[in-house]
Amino acid sequence: MPLPIPKIHPSILSANHGDLREEILRLTEAGADFMHMDVMDGHFVENFGLGTEIFKTVRKHTNVPMDVHLMVQNPARHIEFFRRLGAEVIYIHAEAATQATDTLAKIRGMGAKAGIAISPETQPEHIAPLLPHCDCVLVMTVVPGFSGRKFVADTLPKIETLGKLSHQHGFTLCVDGDINPDRVRELLPLGVTNFVIGSSLFEHDPAQMLREIKQTGGNLL
Ligand code: DX5
Ligand code: ZN
Repeated sequence: MPLPIPKIHPSILSANHGDLREEILRLTEAGADFMHMDVMDGHFVENFGLGTEIFKTVRKHTNVPMDVHLMVQNPARHIEFFRRLGAEVIYIHAEAATQATDTLAKIRGMGAKAGIAISPETQPEHIAPLLPHCDCVLVMTVVPGFSGRKFVADTLPKIETLGKLSHQHGFTLCVDGDINPDRVRELLPLGVTNFVIGSSLFEHDPAQMLREIKQTGGNLL
């Protein structure tokens, strides 16, 4: 069976913020599918960011859709805010949302795609009731909070399980954390179609790496 062409979400947290406009333009030119925006409240995770001004800069310089990864406690309070800043996909963390089903419905009601994100220790059983209510599942393959952390190999069995469930429920399966071209090759056959890439993309030539990764798809298994 041919593999799909992977969709790439450069993680803007890892971009060169000294010249963000230039970064956005070159990622757009290189064929990025989404601009991945990490939002951290210093509470659910120990880091802070990304701020309103960065959202405005990204929106100003590209039409590539933004997917917003809310690493915040009580994400329901912030849906409207980020939707107004131009978010096309909004993920809430299963571990942080008290009313996850209602929040996913709220995201969809505002015309965005609703996503559920899970930290490495969270198992698929915990989100099973949410799967009919979401458009995407984001599996964190590092402990959330920072770029440049190490891949948690224990997440592989659950990625495989969720890959099978994605066909059944029709959600998009995305991974985030220490992803590189080798991992794309490893995870694409498991049903992962979307890949957030931070440090490994920006450490090299993003355009060249995007092209290389895209060639992974379309091959025969
Ligand atoms: C981490 C963020 C990621 C991060 C990815 O909590 O959610 O999006 O920026 O960066 P790398 O690819 O370096 O792990
Ligand atoms: Zn992220």
